[in-house]
Amino acid sequence: MIIDMHSHILPGIDDGSRNVEESVKLLDSFAERGIDLVVATPHFYCEEQSINRFLEKRNKAYEELKPHLKPEHPKILLGAEVLYSPILVGNDDISKLAIEGTDFVLFEMPYQRLTEDIIENVSKIVNFMDIKLLIAHIERYLYFTSFSELSELMDLDVIGQINVKSLMKSSSKRACFKLIKNGYVHALGTDYHRIDRPCSHVDEAYKILDKKFGEGYTDHLMHNALEILKNESLSYFYR
Ligand SMILES: [Fe+2]
Repeated sequence: MIIDMHSHILPGIDDGSRNVEESVKLLDSFAERGIDLVVATPHFYCEEQSINRFLEKRNKAYEELKPHLKPEHPKILLGAEVLYSPILVGNDDISKLAIEGTDFVLFEMPYQRLTEDIIENVSKIVNFMDIKLLIAHIERYLYFTSFSELSELMDLDVIGQINVKSLMKSSSKRACFKLIKNGYVHALGTDYHRIDRPCSHVDEAYKILDKKFGEGYTDHLMHNALEILKNESLSYFYR
């Protein structure tokens, strides 16, 4: 079972697929790569739109796509990629943005140093709100913040996702390996936006990870993905 926890496949809602035709092509490519289930996570920016308006748009995009889905396409679950903002702290409506059937919200950090204020705010979300955070593409923040600052974030009660594409480039691959060794990586995602920017190579990513961390490592990652989708606590961490 191959699960993609992070994608931008819904038509016309963010900087991902521009229309239904592109969405179908993206899903064709997922089917070719053997992906069974994909979580659709369009960008949500709380400073630009209301949660309810976003959900209306997201559901409409999905309804437009539905008649064009093929039997071989992966199953789609709805979610969102929620960009951090201090105004999210205490806003219980964020739970509406969780991955369908779960309390897990895919959470994008700002592209800057992860300051004490930011970590403190995320800690309030984790400790005092009824949601769980899956931090999106954690390797990317290392372009903006130090490993120790990122560690402070990941040492909170959160889980982390890395992008498949980052395993294909040597510099970002090293960062991913270090994050895995530190126990910060729990799920994979394609973060697929456009058909002309291929990044659905989950099968190749599996080979790279199993070669580095031993056969069965990716089974554990997929087991984690299933547990996330069942809204359960994760039983496997690479340490
Ligand atoms: Fe994304």
